[in-house]
Amino acid sequence: LSLCGAILVVAYLLGSFPTGYIAVKQLKGIDIRAVGSGSTGATNVLRTLGKVPGAFVLGIDCLKGVLAIALVYALFNYAATSEFIPANLDLKLWQPWMVTLVGLAAILGHSKSIFLGFTGGKSVATSLGILLAMSWQVGLATLGVFAVVVAISRIVSLSSITGAIAVSIFMAVFHQPLPYILFGIVGGFYVIIRHRSNIERLLAGTESKIGQKVVTEV
Ligand code: G3P
Repeated sequence: LSLCGAILVVAYLLGSFPTGYIAVKQLKGIDIRAVGSGSTGATNVLRTLGKVPGAFVLGIDCLKGVLAIALVYALFNYAATSEFIPANLDLKLWQPWMVTLVGLAAILGHSKSIFLGFTGGKSVATSLGILLAMSWQVGLATLGVFAVVVAISRIVSLSSITGAIAVSIFMAVFHQPLPYILFGIVGGFYVIIRHRSNIERLLAGTESKIGQKVVTEV
């Protein structure tokens, strides 16, 4: 149980790692939270620094999610062979619940980073990493929805919101366990809430599109 608690904390800290903030600080000497949408995520890095740094931040932020879930798999693999774990403990039953909690902790970390005074990004890239590690089918299907919407609209936030709605549907379609469906609902809802200011801009028709020059919205 204490190992589970420790992994939850590590997942939050992993999620908290401020990739976008560090990249923009190092390469441009400014605080990304004062530019563009104010988010520390890959989209705002793309806006501020361009494609390569944006893709780099996207990759690292995604990896944070993969790593968090990999830790749970490692813990449960260890537990399956450990003599300290009671034989009547049903690990197969508990693993998806732990994956779900750890995923949510990493998502929270990304947008409420302890290293940035509880500010951060919108948890989209980290959620993608988590989804791919939870169920690659759901991860790829969600990425597909995101890609289609982004190709049509050129608006990342709209694509993220659509993807966030699609996750729980895909969890059910691909017959994922109940905790994963709950992850889709809670995580998806959280990601949408994080896009509040984007939703206001979308409704006002002022949301920025990929390739538009940086307009500070904060
Ligand atoms: O990944 C976050 C994206 O959906 C929106 O980012 O910077 O346009 O608010 P941003």
